[in-house]
Amino acid sequence: MNIGIIGSGEVGQTLAKGFLKYGYPVMIGSRSPSKLEDWSKRKGMGAAIGTFDQASEFGELLVLAVKGQVAKEVLEELKSERIQDKIVIDVTNPIDETKTPDNGVLHFTTSLESSFMEEVQNGFPSVRFVKAFNSVSSAYMVDPPFESKPTMFICGNDNTAKEVVVGILEKFGWEAEDMGGVESARAIEPLSMLLCIPGILRNDWSHAYKLLRPSSKP
Ligand SMILES: NC(=O)c1ccc[n+]([C@@H]2O[C@H](COP(=O)([O-])OP(=O)(O)OC[C@H]3O[C@@H](n4cnc5c(N)ncnc54)[C@H](OP(=O)(O)O)[C@@H]3O)[C@@H](O)[C@H]2O)c1
Repeated sequence: MNIGIIGSGEVGQTLAKGFLKYGYPVMIGSRSPSKLEDWSKRKGMGAAIGTFDQASEFGELLVLAVKGQVAKEVLEELKSERIQDKIVIDVTNPIDETKTPDNGVLHFTTSLESSFMEEVQNGFPSVRFVKAFNSVSSAYMVDPPFESKPTMFICGNDNTAKEVVVGILEKFGWEAEDMGGVESARAIEPLSMLLCIPGILRNDWSHAYKLLRPSSKP
Protein backbone atom coordinates (compact mmCIF):
# COMPACT_ATOMS: atom_id res chain seq x y z
CA MET A 1 0.00 0.00 0.00
CA ASN A 2 1.47 3.36 -1.05
CA ILE A 3 1.70 5.92 1.76
CA GLY A 4 1.41 9.66 1.13
CA ILE A 5 2.61 11.82 4.00
CA ILE A 6 1.15 15.33 4.04
CA GLY A 7 3.69 17.11 6.21
CA SER A 8 7.44 17.18 6.46
CA GLY A 9 8.10 18.17 10.08
CA GLU A 10 9.43 15.81 12.76
CA VAL A 11 6.27 13.72 12.58
CA GLY A 12 6.15 13.47 8.80
CA GLN A 13 9.82 12.50 8.62
CA THR A 14 9.60 9.98 11.49
CA LEU A 15 6.52 8.24 10.10
CA ALA A 16 7.97 8.27 6.58
CA LYS A 17 11.03 6.41 7.90
CA GLY A 18 8.81 4.03 9.84
CA PHE A 19 6.66 3.16 6.84
CA LEU A 20 9.78 2.66 4.70
CA LYS A 21 11.29 0.39 7.36
CA TYR A 22 8.18 -1.78 7.32
CA GLY A 23 8.17 -2.08 3.56
CA TYR A 24 5.67 0.53 2.40
CA PRO A 25 6.44 2.77 -0.58
CA VAL A 26 6.35 6.37 0.71
CA MET A 27 6.08 9.87 -0.72
CA ILE A 28 6.55 12.73 1.73
CA GLY A 29 4.96 16.06 0.87
CA SER A 30 6.00 19.63 1.62
CA ARG A 31 5.26 23.12 0.33
CA SER A 32 8.97 23.21 -0.58
CA PRO A 33 9.95 19.67 -1.58
CA SER A 34 13.53 20.69 -2.45
CA LYS A 35 14.28 21.26 1.24
CA LEU A 36 13.82 17.50 1.81
CA GLU A 37 16.48 16.39 -0.66
CA ASP A 38 19.27 16.30 1.95
CA TRP A 39 17.05 14.55 4.49
CA SER A 40 16.03 11.98 1.91
CA LYS A 41 19.67 11.19 1.07
CA ARG A 42 20.72 10.94 4.72
CA LYS A 43 17.73 9.44 6.53
CA GLY A 44 14.71 8.98 4.33
CA MET A 45 16.41 6.60 1.95
CA GLY A 46 13.88 5.53 -0.59
CA ALA A 47 11.21 8.10 0.20
CA ALA A 48 9.89 9.94 -2.83
CA ILE A 49 9.51 13.68 -2.35
CA GLY A 50 6.70 15.85 -3.64
CA THR A 51 4.22 18.60 -2.92
CA PHE A 52 1.27 18.00 -0.61
CA ASP A 53 -0.85 17.45 -3.70
CA GLN A 54 1.59 14.94 -5.25
CA ALA A 55 1.88 13.02 -1.97
CA SER A 56 -1.90 12.88 -1.67
CA GLU A 57 -2.15 11.51 -5.21
CA PHE A 58 0.60 8.93 -4.58
CA GLY A 59 -0.81 7.61 -1.30
CA GLU A 60 -3.49 4.97 -1.12
CA LEU A 61 -3.35 5.72 2.59
CA LEU A 62 -2.50 9.28 3.71
CA VAL A 63 -1.02 10.69 6.88
CA LEU A 64 -2.04 14.23 7.83
CA ALA A 65 0.91 15.65 9.75
CA VAL A 66 0.88 19.42 9.37
CA LYS A 67 0.64 22.19 11.94
CA GLY A 68 -2.79 21.94 13.57
CA GLN A 69 -3.74 25.54 12.85
CA VAL A 70 -3.36 25.10 9.09
CA ALA A 71 -4.45 21.46 8.72
CA LYS A 72 -8.00 22.20 7.55
CA GLU A 73 -6.73 24.74 5.02
CA VAL A 74 -4.16 22.23 3.72
CA LEU A 75 -6.89 19.60 3.21
CA GLU A 76 -9.11 22.17 1.46
CA GLU A 77 -6.31 23.01 -0.96
CA LEU A 78 -5.82 19.38 -2.04
CA LYS A 79 -7.77 18.28 -5.09
CA SER A 80 -10.83 16.54 -3.66
CA GLU A 81 -10.46 13.46 -5.89
CA ARG A 82 -7.03 12.89 -4.34
CA ILE A 83 -8.44 12.26 -0.89
CA GLN A 84 -11.94 10.98 -1.59
CA ASP A 85 -12.63 7.62 0.09
CA LYS A 86 -9.02 7.30 1.28
CA ILE A 87 -7.93 6.42 4.79
CA VAL A 88 -6.29 9.48 6.38
CA ILE A 89 -4.38 8.97 9.62
CA ASP A 90 -4.87 12.25 11.45
CA VAL A 91 -1.85 12.91 13.65
CA THR A 92 -2.60 16.58 14.20
CA ASN A 93 -3.41 18.39 17.40
CA PRO A 94 -5.37 21.67 17.34
CA ILE A 95 -2.79 23.61 19.33
CA ASP A 96 -3.35 27.37 19.50
CA GLU A 97 0.17 28.65 18.97
CA THR A 98 -0.87 32.29 19.40
CA LYS A 99 -1.12 31.66 23.16
CA THR A 100 1.66 30.82 25.61
CA PRO A 101 1.04 27.63 27.61
CA ASP A 102 -0.27 28.20 31.15
CA ASN A 103 2.31 26.60 33.42
CA GLY A 104 2.95 23.90 30.83
CA VAL A 105 -0.68 23.49 29.70
CA LEU A 106 -1.16 24.11 25.98
CA HIS A 107 -4.13 26.02 24.59
CA PHE A 108 -6.35 24.42 21.96
CA THR A 109 -8.40 26.08 19.24
CA THR A 110 -11.23 23.61 20.02
CA SER A 111 -13.31 23.08 23.17
CA LEU A 112 -14.19 19.80 24.90
CA GLU A 113 -17.50 19.89 22.98
CA SER A 114 -15.79 19.42 19.61
CA SER A 115 -12.52 18.33 18.09
CA PHE A 116 -10.39 19.02 15.04
CA MET A 117 -11.14 15.59 13.63
CA GLU A 118 -14.90 16.11 13.83
CA GLU A 119 -14.52 19.39 11.94
CA VAL A 120 -12.62 17.77 9.09
CA GLN A 121 -14.80 14.64 9.07
CA ASN A 122 -17.86 16.89 8.65
CA GLY A 123 -16.07 18.89 5.95
CA PHE A 124 -14.89 15.80 4.03
CA PRO A 125 -17.55 13.14 4.66
CA SER A 126 -16.16 10.59 2.20
CA VAL A 127 -12.67 10.62 3.73
CA ARG A 128 -12.04 7.84 6.24
CA PHE A 129 -10.21 9.68 9.03
CA VAL A 130 -8.58 7.72 11.84
CA LYS A 131 -7.01 9.60 14.73
CA ALA A 132 -3.70 8.02 15.74
CA PHE A 133 -0.13 8.88 16.75
CA ASN A 134 -1.21 12.29 18.13
CA SER A 135 -0.61 11.37 21.79
CA VAL A 136 3.10 10.54 21.74
CA SER A 137 6.27 12.46 20.90
CA SER A 138 7.55 11.83 17.41
CA ALA A 139 10.70 10.14 18.78
CA TYR A 140 8.58 7.24 20.06
CA MET A 141 6.12 6.80 17.20
CA VAL A 142 7.98 3.88 15.63
CA ASP A 143 9.42 0.97 17.65
CA PRO A 144 8.83 2.64 21.05
CA PRO A 145 11.49 1.35 23.49
CA PHE A 146 9.37 1.06 26.64
CA GLU A 147 9.28 -1.76 29.23
CA SER A 148 5.95 -2.91 27.86
CA LYS A 149 3.97 -2.14 24.75
CA PRO A 150 2.40 1.31 24.99
CA THR A 151 -1.21 1.98 23.99
CA MET A 152 -2.25 4.15 21.08
CA PHE A 153 -5.79 5.43 21.42
CA ILE A 154 -7.51 5.67 18.08
CA CYS A 155 -10.96 6.63 16.83
CA GLY A 156 -12.88 7.10 13.62
CA ASN A 157 -16.19 6.27 11.97
CA ASP A 158 -14.97 3.62 9.50
CA ASN A 159 -14.25 0.22 11.03
CA THR A 160 -12.34 -1.10 8.02
CA ALA A 161 -10.09 1.97 8.07
CA LYS A 162 -9.43 1.46 11.78
CA GLU A 163 -8.52 -2.21 11.17
CA VAL A 164 -5.90 -1.09 8.63
CA VAL A 165 -4.50 1.47 11.08
CA VAL A 166 -4.45 -1.10 13.90
CA GLY A 167 -2.34 -3.35 11.63
CA ILE A 168 0.12 -0.50 11.04
CA LEU A 169 0.28 0.34 14.75
CA GLU A 170 1.00 -3.29 15.62
CA LYS A 171 3.85 -3.39 13.09
CA PHE A 172 5.21 -0.16 14.59
CA GLY A 173 5.25 -1.72 18.10
CA TRP A 174 1.99 -0.46 19.61
CA GLU A 175 -1.17 -1.96 20.99
CA ALA A 176 -4.17 -0.06 19.67
CA GLU A 177 -7.23 0.81 21.72
CA ASP A 178 -10.23 1.64 19.57
CA MET A 179 -12.21 4.31 21.40
CA GLY A 180 -15.07 4.43 18.91
CA GLY A 181 -16.38 7.09 16.54
CA VAL A 182 -15.02 10.45 15.55
CA GLU A 183 -16.50 12.16 18.65
CA SER A 184 -13.89 10.38 20.77
CA ALA A 185 -11.31 12.71 19.26
CA ARG A 186 -12.65 15.21 21.84
CA ALA A 187 -10.89 13.04 24.43
CA ILE A 188 -7.96 11.74 22.36
CA GLU A 189 -6.73 15.11 21.08
CA PRO A 190 -6.33 16.58 24.61
CA LEU A 191 -4.16 13.58 25.60
CA SER A 192 -1.46 15.57 23.82
CA MET A 193 -1.93 18.41 26.32
CA LEU A 194 -1.22 16.05 29.21
CA LEU A 195 1.68 14.47 27.33
CA CYS A 196 3.30 17.86 26.74
CA ILE A 197 3.15 19.20 30.31
CA PRO A 198 6.36 17.46 31.53
CA GLY A 199 7.94 18.33 28.18
CA ILE A 200 7.19 22.02 28.41
CA LEU A 201 7.99 22.26 32.13
CA ARG A 202 11.03 19.97 32.36
CA ASN A 203 11.97 19.05 28.79
CA ASP A 204 10.81 15.50 29.59
CA TRP A 205 9.17 13.98 26.52
CA SER A 206 10.09 10.35 27.26
CA HIS A 207 6.78 8.75 28.03
CA ALA A 208 3.75 7.15 26.44
CA TYR A 209 0.30 6.03 27.56
CA LYS A 210 -0.57 2.49 28.63
CA LEU A 211 -4.11 1.28 29.31
CA LEU A 212 -4.05 -1.24 32.16
CA ARG A 213 -6.69 -3.86 32.83
CA PRO A 214 -6.95 -6.04 35.95
CA SER A 215 -5.80 -9.65 35.66
CA SER A 216 -8.92 -10.70 37.58
CA LYS A 217 -12.27 -9.09 38.28
CA PRO A 218 -12.53 -7.46 41.75
N1 LIG B 1 6.20 16.83 17.12
C1 LIG B 1 5.61 15.87 17.79
O1 LIG B 1 6.27 15.17 18.59
C2 LIG B 1 4.14 15.61 17.61
C3 LIG B 1 3.56 14.51 18.27
C4 LIG B 1 2.22 14.21 18.06
C5 LIG B 1 1.46 15.00 17.23
N2 LIG B 1 2.03 16.08 16.61
C6 LIG B 1 1.20 16.88 15.70
O2 LIG B 1 1.60 16.54 14.38
C7 LIG B 1 1.53 17.65 13.51
C8 LIG B 1 2.90 17.87 12.86
O3 LIG B 1 3.83 18.19 13.86
P1 LIG B 1 5.40 18.41 13.56
O4 LIG B 1 6.03 18.54 14.90
O5 LIG B 1 5.89 17.40 12.62
O6 LIG B 1 5.54 19.77 12.80
P2 LIG B 1 4.76 21.15 12.70
O7 LIG B 1 5.77 22.21 12.76
O8 LIG B 1 3.60 21.21 13.64
O9 LIG B 1 4.20 21.05 11.20
C9 LIG B 1 5.09 20.99 10.12
C10 LIG B 1 4.31 20.83 8.86
O10 LIG B 1 3.26 21.83 8.78
C11 LIG B 1 3.37 22.49 7.52
N3 LIG B 1 2.97 23.90 7.65
C12 LIG B 1 3.38 24.78 8.58
N4 LIG B 1 2.80 26.00 8.34
C13 LIG B 1 2.06 25.84 7.22
C14 LIG B 1 1.23 26.72 6.46
N5 LIG B 1 1.05 28.01 6.80
N6 LIG B 1 0.60 26.22 5.37
C15 LIG B 1 0.75 24.92 5.01
N7 LIG B 1 1.53 24.05 5.70
C16 LIG B 1 2.17 24.50 6.77
C17 LIG B 1 4.84 22.39 7.16
O11 LIG B 1 4.93 22.54 5.76
P3 LIG B 1 6.31 22.40 4.97
O12 LIG B 1 6.49 20.93 4.77
O13 LIG B 1 6.07 23.11 3.70
O14 LIG B 1 7.36 23.00 5.83
C18 LIG B 1 5.19 21.01 7.65
O15 LIG B 1 4.87 20.04 6.68
C19 LIG B 1 1.06 18.82 14.36
O16 LIG B 1 -0.33 18.97 14.19
C20 LIG B 1 1.40 18.38 15.78
O17 LIG B 1 0.53 18.95 16.75
C21 LIG B 1 3.34 16.40 16.79
